[in-house]
Amino acid sequence: MFGEGEPGARLMLVGEQPGDIEDHIGVPFVGPAGRLLDRALAAAGIDRDEAYLTNAVKHFKWTPRGKRRFHGKPNAGEIRCCRPWLLAEITAVKPEVIVCLGATAAQTLLGPEFRVSKQRGEWVGSELAPKVMATVHPSSLLRMRRSVDRDGAFQALVADLAKAADA
Ligand code: URA
Repeated sequence: MFGEGEPGARLMLVGEQPGDIEDHIGVPFVGPAGRLLDRALAAAGIDRDEAYLTNAVKHFKWTPRGKRRFHGKPNAGEIRCCRPWLLAEITAVKPEVIVCLGATAAQTLLGPEFRVSKQRGEWVGSELAPKVMATVHPSSLLRMRRSVDRDGAFQALVADLAKAADA
């Protein structure tokens, strides 16, 4: 599944892989994580329609769990196979700012040593675009049990996205 957005978009957001709903519909970030991302983008003053949204891995990896398709983490080989497609999207769109959402996207574009937990929200030198940063993946917030943790993590995600909006 490819990305969504205009070729000249100034901001590119890169997620991990399509989820179950995205895989059915063929559009990135339209499931639960996408709805949370939409709220965070709006709070950061970013119009989703002006950004280009895509994923590091182009297929939904899943294992059956009852009637549900359960998300499986992409492995290094799957990430490597999809990387040329992601790089081709970056070449075509030429974004001024790239925000990696979560470790898979960050390590795909910024290297295996990159740690979102330590380096989130920091601009990282990269030949891919004038400004590149990583932040957490919105689905990490959905896994938080306590609303106080989710609220804090949401504000931190909005702050990172607002930095991207300023840039
Ligand atoms: N999570 C992702 O990383 N990408 C999507 O498109 C949806 C959920």
